[in-house]
Amino acid sequence: DKVPILFQPFHIKDLTMANRIVVAPMCMYSSKNGFMTNFHLAHLGSFAIHGAGLVIAEASAVEPRGRISPQDAGIWDDAHIHKIKEIAEFVQSQGSKMGIQLAHAGRKASMRPPYSNPPDSDYWREDVVAPSGGEGLKWDQTFVTPRELAVEEIQQVVRAFGKAAARAAKAGLDMVEIHGAHGYLIHNFLSPVTNKRTDQYGGSLENRARILMEVIREVRANFPAEKPIFLRVSASDLVEGVLEGPSWDIEQTVQIAKWVKEAGVDVFHVSSGGNVAQQKLNAYPGYQVPFAEQVKKQVPGLAVVAVGIITGGKLAEEVLESERADLIAVARGFLRDPNFVLNAAKELNVKAKFSQQYERGRR
Ligand code: FNR
Repeated sequence: DKVPILFQPFHIKDLTMANRIVVAPMCMYSSKNGFMTNFHLAHLGSFAIHGAGLVIAEASAVEPRGRISPQDAGIWDDAHIHKIKEIAEFVQSQGSKMGIQLAHAGRKASMRPPYSNPPDSDYWREDVVAPSGGEGLKWDQTFVTPRELAVEEIQQVVRAFGKAAARAAKAGLDMVEIHGAHGYLIHNFLSPVTNKRTDQYGGSLENRARILMEVIREVRANFPAEKPIFLRVSASDLVEGVLEGPSWDIEQTVQIAKWVKEAGVDVFHVSSGGNVAQQKLNAYPGYQVPFAEQVKKQVPGLAVVAVGIITGGKLAEEVLESERADLIAVARGFLRDPNFVLNAAKELNVKAKFSQQYERGRR
């Protein structure tokens, strides 16, 4: 019998995944001063024990003010490398691969973490920076008023992404993912809803994408050439019929996908939304797959990850089989069931490899 695509290995550059299943990056709000902890070792390590092909560690800030909350993970300091390396070595020892998402929260920075103990003990409000500033550009009233970045400051942020990539390489990670989605800094620049600049970083699509292209070049220059770079984007602001005027959409996404491929992005991870509070989100199983499909069809040679309520093995296999994506990422499914991979295998009648320590669980 043919092995389902979901359980076939995937190769890109020097990264070989045992299967096509990716644990999507998920903020755990469990770090202090950016440091990952034993929580992350157990959390990410468990997905490796349970057979995920690739584990992408959560959005990790490239500078302190680029955190969503004070409890976000960070990779802005060389001191962060040690724990990340320990986690990566464990994940890799289980036959899985590990990467990290490099992030800057932009206008959505400096928020209260969803839980903290005691409440708000670690709560602060930082300098919140974005392409454009002012009261009218807050995500909503609970957010800090963003301040417009000066051009030299944009250059500093770009360099911070590069330094973070160098640290990821030192930690022995197999890939990095640039976070260009969900209304964080890079998405703020891409979308005309949040980018009102009139200099070389605003206006035309080329200008709005300038920071992204600079970040890619900087990351590429600081990360080993044989290791892949992923880019996560939102394919749309999801404001059609809600907001007047230009916004971010799938046509622009396809255009930048062509550019970023040329600039050295190996894998394009397609999400949506998160940039505008009034977005109209209609979520159902596989709801973002049509966006992934458009990129895959229109940008040959660029590997694509589909994500968003991919409920199990059958749906995942159908997406791969119909060539709408090359990889499947799952977030909440793994929180509900760390054994997502083995259950997907069962659904598809595959005898997936158990970790040797768990082998007796079969009987
Ligand atoms: C997320 N998501 C997310 N996305 C991202 O790009 N970086 C991140 O750090 C996080 N953090 C995060 C935390 C938690 C707890 C959840 C549930 C989600 C979004 C996530 O990666 C994924 O795109 C969505 O959850 C949709 O996929 P699922 O959950 O339907 O499989």
